[in-house]
Amino acid sequence: MKHIVIAIDGPSASGKSTNARMVAALLNYVYVDTGAMFRTLAWHCLQNRVDVHDAKAVAGLLRKWKARLDCVEGKVRLLVDGYYPEKEIRTAETSAAVAHVAAIPKVRDWMKKTQRECIQFGNLVMEGRDIGTHIFPETDFKFWLDAPLHERAGRRQAEGVHENLAARDERDSQRAAAPLMPALGAHKINNSGMTPEQSANLIITEVHRRLEHRKTARHK
Ligand code: DC
Repeated sequence: MKHIVIAIDGPSASGKSTNARMVAALLNYVYVDTGAMFRTLAWHCLQNRVDVHDAKAVAGLLRKWKARLDCVEGKVRLLVDGYYPEKEIRTAETSAAVAHVAAIPKVRDWMKKTQRECIQFGNLVMEGRDIGTHIFPETDFKFWLDAPLHERAGRRQAEGVHENLAARDERDSQRAAAPLMPALGAHKINNSGMTPEQSANLIITEVHRRLEHRKTARHK
């Protein structure tokens, strides 16, 4: 692989976004929020009155939609008809719909292809649920973040978001296609009680350690 991909996976509210953004800024890598891509499709389904439980209808919409990637200020965005639905994808309605869309195998195929194309923008910090297991299984830089459910639910509440995290985690973990689980070789961080800076520092330290290890292995 020409560029480095840092894969950060974990359940909802495990600190992936905050950590991935910090790590990307500190290393000057491009940040990719893959959850935002699934949310964009869920939003597009709602806009077009496509039932998110109907895999065939969603796959039909996926074949037709005019979606493309761009990269602005170190962040990859997915545009639909040239529009970036930044706010719309965070509504409660979209959050409730997204795990259904994410369970559809054709959706996951499309996402895999598109998410791998992000490498065109350079070294990446990519956060999601299956980056280390399915999207870039070849990367040496895999991380798994987690914290107890009550703490993760508290984080969401503090952000003013009320949603059933346990239900969404269960749907993400139980689906047949690319279920939520730690990748082999992932460095696991339970960030319970940590500040975002502390857990981001743990990631950076481990990335440096693995980079060093790579260098010495090459010189042997
Ligand atoms: O991280 P998030 O809450 O924005 O993710 C939204 C949903 O998308 C989440 O319920 C699971 C799904 N998702 C996924 O299945 N695979 C990813 N790589 C990222 C998100």
